[in-house]
Amino acid sequence: MRSKIVAGNWKMNKNLDETRALINELVQKLPETSAEVMVAPTFVNLSEAVKSVAGSKVEVVAQNMHFEESGAFTGEIAPGMLKNIGVNTVILGHSERRAYFGETDTLLKKKVDRALAQGMRMIFCFGEELEDRKAGKHFDVVESQLRNALFHLPKEAWKHIVLAYEPVWAIGTGETASPEQAQEMHAFIRETITSGFGEEIAEAVTILYGGSVKPGNASEIFSKPDVDGGLIGGAALKADDFIGIINGI
Ligand code: PGA
Repeated sequence: MRSKIVAGNWKMNKNLDETRALINELVQKLPETSAEVMVAPTFVNLSEAVKSVAGSKVEVVAQNMHFEESGAFTGEIAPGMLKNIGVNTVILGHSERRAYFGETDTLLKKKVDRALAQGMRMIFCFGEELEDRKAGKHFDVVESQLRNALFHLPKEAWKHIVLAYEPVWAIGTGETASPEQAQEMHAFIRETITSGFGEEIAEAVTILYGGSVKPGNASEIFSKPDVDGGLIGGAALKADDFIGIINGI
């Protein structure tokens, strides 16, 4: 059975004190859940965050990493550095990285390969822009994002991969894809993975939905058969909201 995951992407929010406070509150209030629970604070607070979650079921994950292991890459973070502080999962290809920091499918392919070489797990994000959807190209865009960055992989790689479909028009906008739109795309993603890697792998891969998930809409979205959880932005910044979403699984 594929795993259910609720992951909070904190983006460029929360200083060290706030990070500790939010994690402590989350850990204290966390309900019994079958879902894996992850939080992704900013790099400078990862080490402390790892200490704060000790003994709980919350996993600390990174928002990004570089594709090389070391070297002259000012301002960048190597995957081995993450592993060394106890961070074994990384978010790759978030639409904000693609839009504001020029991350392309080609670059992401290198990051995917590096994460796998390090034995890391990844949450690989992708999704169409509003214009793509208006033009009826959303399936093509999603398919090419998957093909370009992931279709060269051997089958064994898939146990390290979690997919996160995040329609760009729904991120941070308050506008959510309807549960039907999410299900339609998630089913398409699973078909696409089936075409490349077979049904067993496609059925086993966890596919998260991201984009304005809130306590009020989480359970309806998560009830769809091909939606295995969520990647949460804004609503992950308040413990009660995040827990409300976890309760929707
Ligand atoms: P949002 O962000 O929940 O604030 O829309 C989702 C994301 O960027 O992962």
